[in-house]
Amino acid sequence: MSHRSSAYDKIHNNAISLVKELLKIPENYKVLFLHGGGRAAFASVAQNLISKTGEADYAITGTWSFLAAEEAKNFGKVNYVFPKCEKGCDVPDQSTWKLNNNASYFYYCANETVEGFEFPFVPEINDVPIVCDMSIYVCGKVLEYWKKEGGIETTEKLSKLKSEILYNLIDDSDDFYINEIHPNCRSRINVTFRIRGGVPVEKEFLKLAEQHGMIQLKGHRSIGGIRASLYNAITVEEVGKLAGFMRLFESEYSFDEIKS
Ligand SMILES: Cc1ncc(COP(=O)(O)O)c(C=O)c1O
Repeated sequence: MSHRSSAYDKIHNNAISLVKELLKIPENYKVLFLHGGGRAAFASVAQNLISKTGEADYAITGTWSFLAAEEAKNFGKVNYVFPKCEKGCDVPDQSTWKLNNNASYFYYCANETVEGFEFPFVPEINDVPIVCDMSIYVCGKVLEYWKKEGGIETTEKLSKLKSEILYNLIDDSDDFYINEIHPNCRSRINVTFRIRGGVPVEKEFLKLAEQHGMIQLKGHRSIGGIRASLYNAITVEEVGKLAGFMRLFESEYSFDEIKS
């Protein structure tokens, strides 16, 4: 099908109206489908927006916002509105942020998928455009399915429920499973954790999980550990299955440690 045909236009415009409807995007916003992945957007955001003043504000909460800021430095001056958020930190109260009056835009990442860090609120920025990395994968048929399933409210409830199953288990594990993200900023999508005993125990965990049909639980290569990504296709039952496996693993391996 030609991307210039009226048949394609129909698919394209339908996808735009569904995105607007499902994400409740106000009418005065435009939806653009652009080339490139997330990293390409790190450059195109700065290339398109920073030239107004040559400066931009960035909130750094993890890998992706850090890399976005590094990229933007190629095109202008970057100001961190608070010191880079390190292990266990919460986002500082917005009244303490050092916003630059001369910034062309303000940038943050809603969900740092590597660390499992979720920005706990939507920043109030009045005078300049807000750029938010909300990397998600959406397109026509997926949007229609999503609408049928109840849209964003249902998805949000399910994400909360699914992630709480795992966070409660982690918190009740007597530090066998460890998540060091501040409780206010725990991602509802990417639940990351380490296991007491470190890499060898984590390797065993991943091997056994795979034998139980649960694949791709390995943490991002830059930080290691375990990462359970609870994207919308993952059901509550599947999270329950992972939780069951985690309890079993804990009962066997924490006992082993006590024995040794
Ligand atoms: C939140 C976020 N931003 C940016 C990226 C980078 O995207 P890409 O790999 O498409 O360049 C990712 C990739 O996982 C991501 O999760």
